[in-house]
Amino acid sequence: MHPDTPRRNARNAFSTLVRERGLLYGGDYNPEQWPAEVWPEDVALMSAAGVNLVTVGVFSWGRLEPQPGEWNLGWLDQVLDLLAAAGIAVDLATPSASAPPWLAVDHPETSAVNQDGVRMSHGSRNHFCPTSPVYREHVLRIVRVLAERYADHPALAMWHVGNEFGQVCYCDLCADAFRAWLQRRYGGLDELNRAWGTAFWSQHHGRWSEVIPPRRAPYLHNPTQELDYRRFASDQLRDLYRVQAELLRDATPAVPVTTNFMGFFPLVDYQSWTDDLDVVADDWYADPADPRSPARAALTHDLMRSLGDGRPWVLMEQATSAVNWRPHNLPRSAGTMLVDSVRAVAHGADAICYFQWRASLAGAERFHSAMLPHAGPDTDLHRAVIEQGDVLRRLRPVAGTRVEARAALVFDWSSWWAGRAPGSPSDRMDAVDRLLDAYEPLWRAGVAVDVVPPGADLDGYSLVVVPGLYLVSDQDAANLARVPERGGVLLVGPFSAVADPDAHIRAGRFPGPWTEVLGVSGEQHRPLPEVGVEVRSELIGDFTAHTWSELLRADDADVLARYAGAGLAGRPALTRRTHPGGGSAWYLSTVPPADALNRIVLAAAEAAGLRAPVDCPPEVEAIRRGDVLFLLNHGTRPRTVRLPYPATDLIGGTRTTGDLVLPAESAAAMIEEDR
Ligand code: GLA
Ligand code: ZN
Repeated sequence: MHPDTPRRNARNAFSTLVRERGLLYGGDYNPEQWPAEVWPEDVALMSAAGVNLVTVGVFSWGRLEPQPGEWNLGWLDQVLDLLAAAGIAVDLATPSASAPPWLAVDHPETSAVNQDGVRMSHGSRNHFCPTSPVYREHVLRIVRVLAERYADHPALAMWHVGNEFGQVCYCDLCADAFRAWLQRRYGGLDELNRAWGTAFWSQHHGRWSEVIPPRRAPYLHNPTQELDYRRFASDQLRDLYRVQAELLRDATPAVPVTTNFMGFFPLVDYQSWTDDLDVVADDWYADPADPRSPARAALTHDLMRSLGDGRPWVLMEQATSAVNWRPHNLPRSAGTMLVDSVRAVAHGADAICYFQWRASLAGAERFHSAMLPHAGPDTDLHRAVIEQGDVLRRLRPVAGTRVEARAALVFDWSSWWAGRAPGSPSDRMDAVDRLLDAYEPLWRAGVAVDVVPPGADLDGYSLVVVPGLYLVSDQDAANLARVPERGGVLLVGPFSAVADPDAHIRAGRFPGPWTEVLGVSGEQHRPLPEVGVEVRSELIGDFTAHTWSELLRADDADVLARYAGAGLAGRPALTRRTHPGGGSAWYLSTVPPADALNRIVLAAAEAAGLRAPVDCPPEVEAIRRGDVLFLLNHGTRPRTVRLPYPATDLIGGTRTTGDLVLPAESAAAMIEEDR
């Protein structure tokens, strides 16, 4: 058997599940919070709402193993049997996110230590140290018990390892593991000293025992030590995921294994995890107070689809209405809830799930919304949940299909980390902010986008945007430089290719590896005062840029925009080098306001020959998935879209030729004729 065969089987098993059942719909189900009499009612209400997938057991460890080695599994048998009888698939969790108090009491070293050296208490959740062998031993024991008992259970459809991996621990066990990780990365201390630049501030390490995590220190840490600790912490969590996943795969080779990501989460490099997941899953909690929430959601969904190489992904958690963990928790409208879910489907999700099924009466999340609220099924909210089940049933034809994108945005976790390290020129150049800025114009115009790492195969993309890539390897830089050379359009944003993978500044005019391909080079990064700087451009129109500028010289490029102040009068702000094969390389050295950036990005998209499926009015999003053209109005007024082809809405059932009126907060999924 080919070594990849079980993985392929597991991936196929997810597609098969979707093929058999249509889009998956459901949420976290925490029956241990309720008496057994409630369970049959839960299952009946789930069936009535069209729920066909639930995640069970994420926080059940204390109920399953109330004392070390004492097993209480009968209740879970009963719950899984009830679900199986109703035809509801189960995404069964390993409970590693929250160990019961006995583990912390009997083995204090299983609890994490923060940067100040304070050991976390039990009493909340996620207090574990990912390295602790004792914690791991107990995790693997319960995972084995679950895997053996439920391997053949008819409800088992998927494994959910842990929950939202995202812990960083600074204990002595983690320090040891960090040293081992560094030994693998660097070989010897000489290489470590070189990579960390320890000549600075007398940080030279003469013995491995001197090497520690970046624990609380009086002033700025060594930036490479910090970067390596982030890389290590992400790898260490992945290892904790892997040891569980391996055990599950041994027991059930054809059952997909996943865990839930958290979008652009700062503590884990998801791009380095994706091969470990049979299906990518994400938790997305839209903030009703954030006007950019629809764009942020779409970008995050595109990241998830791209992490899985375009395969369908799972929206594992969202909230039906308010969450409980923001300072002031606004509810969501039923319309927003629906549009947000359809958006996820439009961007490639084959499963739409919520945290959680039934709202808790006790515990820290008693004020978190759920599919079944405290007030019960006779509520507007629950009726909206039922309606959503119905909408997802109608969207069945999209299940398993793909989004084709010819534009790519480049993102890399190491670069994100290194670019926001303390002691940088500005803390306002966050890579995710720059990414969202560059994404919005394309998203608003209806141009489909993938989010890829700098080393990705870029041949399928005619537009590649690098909104801000502070750190890049020579190899990845060369990969990106090939885009304009083979006829594509490359648009690079400010503060890019500044550092190498050790987070050392690249000497010489910047952006070092790209001065030639861009035909422009710089000598100074210049953060701007609050007033910003005027920029003059015939192509784009004049604008006032903010946050950042650079002292540049156009060596072999057209200057499309010039600074008119901030000590840079007449100097290039935006350049373009046209390559012999028709490709072009654009460099933007500042942060324009949204409308100007819109024009710049769309000019690049036009140069790349990218066209949107329809003209989108404001607050309307358009994206094609498979044969379906999704049109989403996330605004509060009706909008009209001119359809290029006669089309029939899978959701509403009506056929339209010409103008389609989209009511406020509504979604349409159009099957077009004769396209
Ligand atoms: C996360 C967790 C859930 C729950 C929700 C609340 O996504 O995975 O257990 O705490 O947040 O929003
Ligand atoms: Zn630790």
